[in-house]
Amino acid sequence: MSDSQFIETGVNQNVRITPSNIKVHQLYQTLRSFPNGNRNCYSLGSVVNKGNKYLIRAYFLYGDYDGKNNSPKFDLYIGVKFWATFSSYKATREIYTEIITIASMNFISVCLVNTGEGTPFISGLELRPLNSSIYGVVNESYSLFLWDRFDSGRSIYKDDIIRYPEDPFDLIWETREEASWISFGTSQNVTYKDKAIEPPPRAMMTAVRPLNNSDALFYSWANYSSWQFHIYLHFAELELLGPNMTRVHYPVVKPNKAGDLFSSEKRQFTYAEVITMTNNFRRAIGKGGFGTVYYGQMPDGTQVAVKMLSLLSVKLLARKCQGSDEFQNEVQLLTRVHHRNLVPFIGYCQEGDGTALIYEYMAQGNLGSHLLGTNGCTKALNWGQRLRIALDIAQGLEYLHTGCKPSIIHRDMKTTNILLNERFEAKIGDFGLSKVFFNDDEQTHISTLVKGTPGYLDPEYFHSNNLTQKSDVYGFGVVLLEMITGQPPIIRSSTNYEKRNLVDWARPIIATRDIQAVLDPRLEGDYDANSLSKVAEIALACTSPRSIERPTMTAIVAELKDCLGTETAVEISCSPEIGQVGTMSSYSSVLFPR
Ligand SMILES: *[C@@H]1O[C@H](CO)[C@@H](O)[C@H](O)[C@H]1NC(C)=O
Ligand SMILES: *[C@@H]1O[C@H](CO)[C@@H](O)[C@H](O)[C@H]1NC(C)=O
Ligand SMILES: *[C@@H]1O[C@H](CO)[C@@H](O)[C@H](O)[C@H]1NC(C)=O
Ligand SMILES: *[C@@H]1O[C@H](CO)[C@@H](O)[C@H](O)[C@H]1NC(C)=O
Ligand SMILES: *[C@@H]1O[C@H](CO)[C@@H](O)[C@H](O)[C@H]1NC(C)=O
Ligand SMILES: *[C@@H]1O[C@H](CO)[C@@H](O)[C@H](O)[C@H]1NC(C)=O
Ligand SMILES: *[C@@H]1O[C@H](CO)[C@@H](O)[C@H](O)[C@H]1NC(C)=O
Repeated sequence: MSDSQFIETGVNQNVRITPSNIKVHQLYQTLRSFPNGNRNCYSLGSVVNKGNKYLIRAYFLYGDYDGKNNSPKFDLYIGVKFWATFSSYKATREIYTEIITIASMNFISVCLVNTGEGTPFISGLELRPLNSSIYGVVNESYSLFLWDRFDSGRSIYKDDIIRYPEDPFDLIWETREEASWISFGTSQNVTYKDKAIEPPPRAMMTAVRPLNNSDALFYSWANYSSWQFHIYLHFAELELLGPNMTRVHYPVVKPNKAGDLFSSEKRQFTYAEVITMTNNFRRAIGKGGFGTVYYGQMPDGTQVAVKMLSLLSVKLLARKCQGSDEFQNEVQLLTRVHHRNLVPFIGYCQEGDGTALIYEYMAQGNLGSHLLGTNGCTKALNWGQRLRIALDIAQGLEYLHTGCKPSIIHRDMKTTNILLNERFEAKIGDFGLSKVFFNDDEQTHISTLVKGTPGYLDPEYFHSNNLTQKSDVYGFGVVLLEMITGQPPIIRSSTNYEKRNLVDWARPIIATRDIQAVLDPRLEGDYDANSLSKVAEIALACTSPRSIERPTMTAIVAELKDCLGTETAVEISCSPEIGQVGTMSSYSSVLFPR
């Protein structure tokens, strides 16, 4: 119904843009905005009785109704009690938030509070009377804010969510899948102990079991500061048990130990968690082909890099993957790839168009900025460190090529995709990602795209479109040349505006044994001549125009281990200037046509 009988302030508006591919519910198409006054309240009087329990749900879709293309941020209150902060980085995101509360008077006020970050608005407001027997923990001074509610196993049906009228209280039962869960269901009706507090029958007719029979079922969430969490689990037996069998379940709530994080339990994050961990996207630390990377922190203090996929990436994904299942499968695959020379992948978020990939934060930024001296460090990497980094990268690539089943081709080896931790150990970023975006079966589609970064592109692959592990070997060779020369992959001449390929420039000079003529002056002549000439030789072999002449990563690892025996690294202490947009291009990747 119209909200006009519940509020006198505010202005009715129509949204200008809606999510293009989704049929938007009518309630999202109009909204009420509040340009005047700091606090505007709905008074739900005629329909509320003191002491009764209610579910209140507020809906939002900004939809650029004001033409400012700037989604606001504001607070929601129930009377004088804080409920939630609304914020959305995207104009076409549909958002709802839910709270269960007891009316302390014969009316409930739902207030929108202007916090100086844009004009508050609301698309819809729902009030549902609840049976006092459910969510018994709620009392006059204690409300329940919804964190998550899902019907496990529901993914076996490709149909919609369950809500009213199937759920008499209009609790919304969403679908949820986890990689370690197997969904199953029954067509038999389930019988109830207590109809009043159990979910609707269809929700109880599906369930999940662990993929690995000897594992427990895990579900995890972040422990936010001062919040108390109440967990409601519903069980129904869906299988015929033998005459002398019983099933016993022991729900266990176990906090993750710090450091035992999230790294062992990779998972899907909600958009709300992403907002919290990035402090509402406060600090951009890099920008690349896939989108912008933000600094973040997990509740346990773990520092993370949150890569928000750009709209272009998300659109490409939508075109590539019919629905989000395929994306999730690919991303779940990535969570199983572990090596000490790969940037640890922590998890991902996919809610509407808000798609994020979450990695461990690498304190020293990317190798490219260290080599070019653009990261604020005055001290250059010494030869010993460069050698160690070269071996780290080679080991990471070797693992992708031979240790992973199926084998992974990185496709975008470059110095900005190589990240350094606080101990200057190198880890490869963005592995496996291009697989998500490009499907080799679609030759016609793919041939229109530039797949890779200029200066690193394997010439044979460019001509034949036949992607092999040797394309990564070529990219690795270019990285070695950068470490030797301190030059970028495309060199701009300072006198004329000519551009030269590092490979075209350095290869002939090195091939005639005059390494000195191309050597990085920042090394200040401090290197071991034997290991330098060996690395130069490897670089030449890797950048051979014909892939058959390039060595495998396994052979390269063996050679580099040999070189390292003769070098000792000297630690340097330097922190790159982080926190400035653009100073670091870490986690970047260019895989799009330009
Ligand atoms: C309300 O519930 C909370 C949480 O269970 C409890 O700590 C508090 O004492 C309760 N207050 C009243 C007035 O019952
Ligand atoms: C389950 O219950 C519904 C509604 O009570 C009934 O229509 C249906 O026939 C039942 N199905 C089975 C398999 O018992
Ligand atoms: C509310 O709970 C009472 C007591 O458990 C029950 O008799 C009644 O049917 C419930 N109402 C609904 C709508 O489920
Ligand atoms: C299943 O879990 C057990 C215990 O954690 C483990 O030893 C086993 O390797 C797992 N099996 C698979 C196929 O992952
Ligand atoms: C339970 O059933 C199994 C398999 O039929 C049987 O071997 C076992 O003896 C039974 N145990 C009891 C306590 O009846
Ligand atoms: C959640 O965080 C709070 C505040 O940091 C802490 O006191 C509490 O022990 C944590 N709970 C768990 C289960 O880790
Ligand atoms: C692609 O390269 C692989 C490995 O070098 C080779 O076996 C295969 O024949 C090539 N395919 C095409 C279509 O050129």
